[in-house]
Amino acid sequence: YKIPTGFPEGFLWGGATAANQLEGGYNEDGKGLSTSDMMTAGTHTVARRITPELLENENYPSHEAVDFYHRYAEDIALFGEMGFKVFRLSIAWSRIFPNGDDAEPNEEGLKFYDRIFAELKKHNIEPLVTISHYEAPFGLTQKYNGWSDRRLVDFYVNYCETLFKRYKGVVKYWLTFNEINILTMPMGTFLAGAMLPEGGLELTNPNASTEQARYQALHHQFVASAKAVKLGHSIDPDFKIGCMIAYLCSYPLTSNPVDVLLAQQKDNLSNFLCGDVQVRGEYPGFAKRYFAEKGIDLHIEEGDEQILREGTVDYYTFSYYSSVCVSADPEQEKIGGNMSMGLKNPYLKASAWEWQIDPQGLRWALNNIYNRYRIPMMVVENGLGAVDEVQPDGSIHDDYRIEYLREHIKTMKEAVIDGVDLIGYTPWGCIDLVSAGTGEMKKRYGFIHVDKDNEGKGTLNRSRKDSFYWYKQVIASNGETL
Ligand code: BG6
Repeated sequence: YKIPTGFPEGFLWGGATAANQLEGGYNEDGKGLSTSDMMTAGTHTVARRITPELLENENYPSHEAVDFYHRYAEDIALFGEMGFKVFRLSIAWSRIFPNGDDAEPNEEGLKFYDRIFAELKKHNIEPLVTISHYEAPFGLTQKYNGWSDRRLVDFYVNYCETLFKRYKGVVKYWLTFNEINILTMPMGTFLAGAMLPEGGLELTNPNASTEQARYQALHHQFVASAKAVKLGHSIDPDFKIGCMIAYLCSYPLTSNPVDVLLAQQKDNLSNFLCGDVQVRGEYPGFAKRYFAEKGIDLHIEEGDEQILREGTVDYYTFSYYSSVCVSADPEQEKIGGNMSMGLKNPYLKASAWEWQIDPQGLRWALNNIYNRYRIPMMVVENGLGAVDEVQPDGSIHDDYRIEYLREHIKTMKEAVIDGVDLIGYTPWGCIDLVSAGTGEMKKRYGFIHVDKDNEGKGTLNRSRKDSFYWYKQVIASNGETL
């Protein structure tokens, strides 16, 4: 065994996005409404709302997003200039199947992605495709109540079959669902395209759904994912199909064994439940115990267990932004809004959106996950959402973003030296895009600036931030020049 000294040769450096936060063109060329098209803009303190129909005078950020739909060639050229080896994007399901249950796919939608993949090829960039990133055709919500209905499995698998056959030989890396474990939390209810109560919903409403409903929907997604993996391999044995999990890193607040155990239980339920089903092909014992004790009675059909066993993923990917603490003491200070919530860690600073910044946590997570699964891994989201200031000469000095990424890449490298089989890194929002949690433009992650504000005003012009030039030399040096 040779101890690695740095990132392996051929390491996949790149960036990550999602259709509904990037593309716009929400009703062009036959695209149907998606769940994300029904979501209004919010802020750090005002929750996004999901409206059962589109309302006038409301701001729905996905409708235009950052207009990648028309500007993709310019954007991909900029990715090429940074030296990207890989670009993570998602396909908008409702571009391909406008209602979700259509008999035939929408050819114009498929052609759009043909153009994207051709453009990426020009720049030698490998696509990494998320099949469903926090959206589904809204028709499926209206007609079937989303993923609570088992029939979604077939609609999803049919959608996958269309993509696999069309893009065979063009796309090799696939992810079945973005952050599938979001369904273990109330916030996942609608982000994962699931149930919508009468009168609409606030994205952060803790009572959006019952655990019973969410875990049933999650089971349907597990079955759908496993079927897609099996089908994908039969269509092209070279496909690499992975899972994607929001790694929720939770430390015990104190050395009190009660806190330590609580942190482990959180790790189990928030992270390992989904990983175990998708990587090992079965529900772990602690999940079954949790379901039994909570009175969650899953409808698992005959044959499902076999499907799960036969549809395990080829690689494990996850998002990592921050960490929180957990404690049995209810009096402790909370931190975080939207997606990252937990207790304040006295050793860490937080972003303006209260996401605690913890580079060491990434090394910890990589080791923790790899120790369990021993399969190739990718960090497919990581980054700092921050307010950027454009200087009078147009430059943007985002040294805070460089600092965040540098420190995370350092600990990622340590994890590689520890022996973790890490094959790629795609920081989130490589070009500024709409925030999923808040719907804002102001919360920016990009190396590339997009001129657009929270109200939707701006030229949409692209420009290079300082981090653009910095990341370019990180890639050129395979992670050595930081
Ligand atoms: C992840 C999602 O949870 O976090 C992305 O997969 C999202 O879609 C990202 O954009 C960052 O969250 P936010 O709320 O800052 O956009």
